[in-house]
Amino acid sequence: MILIDGKKVAAELREELKQEVNELKTKYNKVPGLTVILIGDMAPSQIYVRNKEKSANEVGLKSEVIRYPDTIEEKTVLEKIKELNNDESVSGILVQLPLPRHIDKQKVIETITPLKDVDGFHPMNVGNLSSGYESSVPCTPLGCYLMIKKIEPNLSGKKAVIVGRSNLNGKPMTQLLLKENCTVTITHSRTKDLKAECLEADIIVAAVGIPELVKGDWVKKDAIVIDVGINKTENGLVGDVAFDEVSKVAKALTPVPGGVGPMTIACLLKNTVDCFKRSQK
Ligand code: GUN
Repeated sequence: MILIDGKKVAAELREELKQEVNELKTKYNKVPGLTVILIGDMAPSQIYVRNKEKSANEVGLKSEVIRYPDTIEEKTVLEKIKELNNDESVSGILVQLPLPRHIDKQKVIETITPLKDVDGFHPMNVGNLSSGYESSVPCTPLGCYLMIKKIEPNLSGKKAVIVGRSNLNGKPMTQLLLKENCTVTITHSRTKDLKAECLEADIIVAAVGIPELVKGDWVKKDAIVIDVGINKTENGLVGDVAFDEVSKVAKALTPVPGGVGPMTIACLLKNTVDCFKRSQK
């Protein structure tokens, strides 16, 4: 079994990006910039944002975090986003989710220009991705996709089963694999026989947030299994895949932690560099 080392793949991607940023600096005499807006003081968001900032600095991006208290008015945030949309030194804008209840998430997402939408959440990017056009792609599914391609460069004709239909993971993951000519099945809480669906899969991507849902006898021998779940349980942090059982049948499997997580942030940096490059065309 191949244990997919997300930390290592992410470090390789950061190294590539670092070189690319250096080349862009020589060519354009400026570097891509990432601006993160963080509202409130929720601990997980604070940690994510600190990691994003650290990684951005590591590859040589210009990085800025704008912090607001959770009492900030929606109007102020939207005005700031519009200002950043027009700021040439900013290549990518990310508003850390979740937001306080009085701020409309969809309004925030749609105010970010699609050209700087490094999360790939803007309806324009969602549409472009599903039409197979150039777009920003949400960081987590992009990270999963890059790890799958490392294991199996030719995905044409493979059967992929996605567990979970979220806008954040399941749906964009489907589009990425469809583009690679996979036959993709999206499953969800109303799927009649999830085990039977999974047993058909050459590739399983589990992104539902149910601890250890995908069991060893749900997985075909030599399948590639990607675990997007991060669930806090009495036994510590576990994924959506029963790791020990599945590791006995799968060809390749991502651990939790150390699989998808590190790739998500590396892909955010990649999206920032890609937005910069498109803006220079
Ligand atoms: N909060 C947790 N994950 C994410 C993400 O991928 N993007 C944003 N903007 N907020 C998040």
